[in-house]
Formats: sequence, C-alpha cells, structure tokens
Amino acid sequence: MLKMNERPRRNRRTENIRRMVHETDLGARNLVLPVFIVDDPKARVPIPSMPGIFREGRESLLETCERLVELGVPGLALFPVIDEKLKDEGGGQARDPKGLVPETARLLKKEFPELVLFCDVALDPYTSHGHDGLVRDGRILNDETVKVLVEQALVLAEAGADFVCPSDMMDGRIGAIRAALDEKGFTGTGILSYCAKYASSFYGPFRDALSSAPSFGDKKTYQMDPRNRREALREARLDAAEGADILMVKPALAYLDVIRELSEISELPIAAYQVSGEYAMIKAGGEKGWINAPRIMMESLISIRRAGAGIIFTYAALEAAEALRRT
Ligand code: PBG
Repeated sequence: MLKMNERPRRNRRTENIRRMVHETDLGARNLVLPVFIVDDPKARVPIPSMPGIFREGRESLLETCERLVELGVPGLALFPVIDEKLKDEGGGQARDPKGLVPETARLLKKEFPELVLFCDVALDPYTSHGHDGLVRDGRILNDETVKVLVEQALVLAEAGADFVCPSDMMDGRIGAIRAALDEKGFTGTGILSYCAKYASSFYGPFRDALSSAPSFGDKKTYQMDPRNRREALREARLDAAEGADILMVKPALAYLDVIRELSEISELPIAAYQVSGEYAMIKAGGEKGWINAPRIMMESLISIRRAGAGIIFTYAALEAAEALRRT
C-alpha cells in the first residue's frame, strides 16, 4: 500500500459526497435564451445550422416564453430577422419605434412582465451591408454610429427593454447611451455591454439566421482580436467607468480565460455568450453520433459558469433547464 495522507479520491467516493463537495452550481437562474424573431405571427422556421432553433413569429414566441417561465429561466434576448427590403445603408429600421423589436418588446412586457428582456443595440440586422455601424468609403464610422445607437437604445428602453445590450463594439457607446437614457428618465433601464466581443468565426450560423453576414470586409476594426487578453481588461475598465451594469464576454468556451479574468477584476456581474457556432458544433457532433451532445452541452455550460460567468446566453437554455430539473 502507498503511504499517503492525502487521497483526493476519498471526496469523490459516492454520489452524495460529490454532491456536497462540488464547487460550481449551474441553475436555470443563470440562463438567458436568445431568440430570432420575425414579423410573420405564425412563423416557426427551422435554422438549418442550428438544430432545434427557429425563426419565430409572435405565437411561437409566446409559447417559448411560457416554457421559460415554467422552467425558471429568467430572461430572453431578442434578435430580429429583418426583411431584406427594409434594410438600408444606415440601418434606419433600428430606430423605428414601430419596428419588430420594439413591438415585440411591448407585447412581451405585457404578457410576461417578469421575464428579463435583453435587446441588442447594433445595426447589423438592419443594414444592407451587414456591418454593425455606419459606413463611409469602406470604413466603419465610430462617433456617427454611436449617435444612431443612442437613438436605437432609447427606442428599446421606451418599448420596455430591461437591459439594452450594445453589441457593436464602437468606442464610447456605453457612456453616450447611459447619458441619453438618464436624460430621458430611463434611470432604471440597465446596460449589458458586449464588452469583450471578439472578431470570431463562431458567429457564422447566427449570421445565416439573420442573413447579416458582412457584404464586404470583416469586423476586425471594431471587434477584438482573438489573440488579445489584456485588451479585454481595458474594455472592461472603460465600460464600467462609462456606466455598464453587466459585462459580457463573447464567444464563451474559447474565451474562458477572459471570463475568468474579468470576473476577478470587475465588480460587475459577468455574462458570457455561448454563441451560434458553439451550439452548432455540439449539435452537429451529436447528429454524427461522434459525441454525446446533451452531456457535452451541460459540461460546456458548467465550464463557462466555473470560469466566472453568472449569466449565460445560450440557445440551449430550454433544454439545459429541462436537464437541470431532472437532476
Ligand atoms: C451582432 C451580433 C452578433 C451576434 C450577436 N449580436 C453577430 C456579429 O457580431 O457578427 C452573434 C451571436 C451568435 O453567434 O450566436 N452585433
């Protein structure tokens, strides 16, 4: 027999011991479901690269919300699929108070007032070129874009969004949005900042879902370089100083180190977005029969939680909450 005082395996011996000593809890309370919404009330159109996820009209969305409430998932995030005919260079639809997102927000706040409603602030679903900002001579303009984002954020706040969520990565947008919200009396409307948002190829299926892939170039002049970690600290410092309420890291699984780092240096709640490509890879591997997709999904979510995220945006929110109810 080996002489050892410490045998870590003693604490793993039975299921109940493991239940007592486990360090990370994942609950339905940690999850937020991103949904793709369309104008046609009866629509429920599958997205090929995201099995189990649909472009949903109002009726389907209301059923989805009922499921969220039943399962104890506290929130959802709206992403609009905008008719190509309504897209233009300036993303004008983003500021229409009668647009798809504000109208849907009003409906949800009436039917499900307790669900926490997150609304994205960025122009890409609305622009003909698919960029998050205004473009001149092939360049993405910063300050001019921020002005428009402020207007978009006000429309969303007015419609009842609990959190407006700038995902555009322009400089200075958090401060500008905070000032405008306060000035208009929306002091209770929060800002979830997509703070460390990387220029990632993991967003592919999302851009298919919204038909929002950039028509020229890429997003590297505004989204972060995947090689950078310290730069995320700088973004976090700025966004916190400008008045963000929650900081997000995105994507999640490939950026666990960044989640860990921000959760250590910041006093704000940390969110992470398990993005479309992460979801799609797990589902595809499962369909091939090469991996156990449901378990890998839970393991990924636990890892994101362990890294330090208290809020996880995931397309698997409903299935994960169901799985958690069984355990
Ligand atoms: C747009 C936005 C994107 C995602 C969320 N908001 C795409 C992008 O930046 O190109 C991606 C989400 C996902 O892939 O699930 N500002």
